[in-house]
Amino acid sequence: MLVSYSLAINESLNKIVANQFSQLARKSRNNVSSTKVKKEAIENPPLEIFKLGSETLRTEAKRISKVDNKLRDLARDMLKSMYSAKGIGLAGPQVGISKELLVIDINFEDSAAEPLILINPEITAFGSTLTTYEEGCLSIPGIYLNVVRPSTIKLKFRDEMGRPRKMNADGLLARCIQHEVDHLRGVLFVDRVTSTDELKKELTKEGYKMKDVIPLQT
Ligand code: NI
Repeated sequence: MLVSYSLAINESLNKIVANQFSQLARKSRNNVSSTKVKKEAIENPPLEIFKLGSETLRTEAKRISKVDNKLRDLARDMLKSMYSAKGIGLAGPQVGISKELLVIDINFEDSAAEPLILINPEITAFGSTLTTYEEGCLSIPGIYLNVVRPSTIKLKFRDEMGRPRKMNADGLLARCIQHEVDHLRGVLFVDRVTSTDELKKELTKEGYKMKDVIPLQT
């Protein structure tokens, strides 16, 4: 707006304005998250989402030491792939990248709501109240089963600019973060399902193998 107005008034300002504009553009690239992604399914999502039985899902993710444009590009690709698969969360290991990077968007129907990009997320406290909720996973499509988890958490992480952040979460967000953080440890929600009979029945129905589940020791 400012740019076109100035150009109309005085042609000689062209260069200055153009410079200012490029500076602004560069600044916004550095400051504003470069992760603006349309919340829609695209025909060829950039990343493949690996399914139950893939080694990558069981590989522990590594901490990220450098938050740069390359990482932000990766987060953006993860968001595109997540929206295309109609998911609300996606972890690095699910797309074959063993890094502590998560993207989450529980407001996927609200185009104005910013997605969460969590780098090196660490749950620092769990609330004492437990809730049961039906979970699903983009790596295990077709399976929806009840999982018991703490209903509130405290979390620390780095944002997409590398800044250290803290947050509290409850409800669906707390649920989703815990599910995604599990992925970074090579843990899947089916490992937490306590109803073995139901798990077996559902997995078999969808063509998955029970041997790909690693029940957590409780
Ligand atoms: Ni998942």
